[in-house]
Amino acid sequence: MQLIDGKKTAEEIRHELAKEVENMKMQGEKVPHLAAVLLGNDGASETYVANKAKACEQVGFRSTVLKFDASITEGFLLDQVKSLNNNSDIDGFIVQLPLPAHISEQKVIEAIDPRKDVDGFHPVNIGRTLLGMPSFVSATPYGIIELIKRYNIETQGKHCVVIGRSNIVGRPVSVLMSLKNYPGDATVTVCHSRTRNMEEITRQADILIAAIGIPGFVKGNMVKDGVVVIDVGTTRVPSEQTKSGFKLKGDVDFDEVAPKASYITPVPGGVGPMTIVSLLKNTFLAARGEIYK
Ligand code: GUN
Repeated sequence: MQLIDGKKTAEEIRHELAKEVENMKMQGEKVPHLAAVLLGNDGASETYVANKAKACEQVGFRSTVLKFDASITEGFLLDQVKSLNNNSDIDGFIVQLPLPAHISEQKVIEAIDPRKDVDGFHPVNIGRTLLGMPSFVSATPYGIIELIKRYNIETQGKHCVVIGRSNIVGRPVSVLMSLKNYPGDATVTVCHSRTRNMEEITRQADILIAAIGIPGFVKGNMVKDGVVVIDVGTTRVPSEQTKSGFKLKGDVDFDEVAPKASYITPVPGGVGPMTIVSLLKNTFLAARGEIYK
């Protein structure tokens, strides 16, 4: 069994990006600039945005956080989005979700210029992904694909079973794994809450991607020997062993599944660390104009 080390891979990508930024500076080019819009004082959202800004700093990108009260109107937020769309100094931006209930997330996402949508949430980017066109792919699926690539995991003709059909992980990763490409060219099955006899299906998986959000859901008897396991789950469960009072638990029962796996991502330290670097990579691609030429 080999551990897929997301922390180390993310560090490698950060180094690569930092080098690219150095080159850009030497050529007198502007460095990539990411903006994040944050509403209200939700602790988790504030932490995510602060981590994104810190990650930008680490690789030499510029970052700007626009923070507003949770009571602003939808119209005001849409105007901010418009102004970021038109600001040539900003290469890409995100609007941190969830938004307050009185603002339509879909409306806001659709207002973002797809060329600056480094979260990859805009329907145009999702549609382009579906068609196998260059697109911004959202952070988690992008991170999964990058791990598979960097560990040279064979995907062609393999049976890839995805558990979960969310718009931001399960569905896009199932599409990417089926595209005529590497990583891709897999036979993909998507399982979800209405799937019958799930273990019969998961036992056929050469590659199993678990993104269902139920800690410890995948048990040892649900996988075959030699399976490649990508665990996307990051549920906070109470713990007396940590200072924070919680620890992250994946969707896979690691102790039961790891002995049967050929490769497996741990939680924490697997897919999680890849997500923020994926956002950085998208921002770099936006600055370079690599997706929409
Ligand atoms: N909230 C939790 N994860 C994300 C993310 O990846 N992007 C945005 N915009 N909001 C989030």
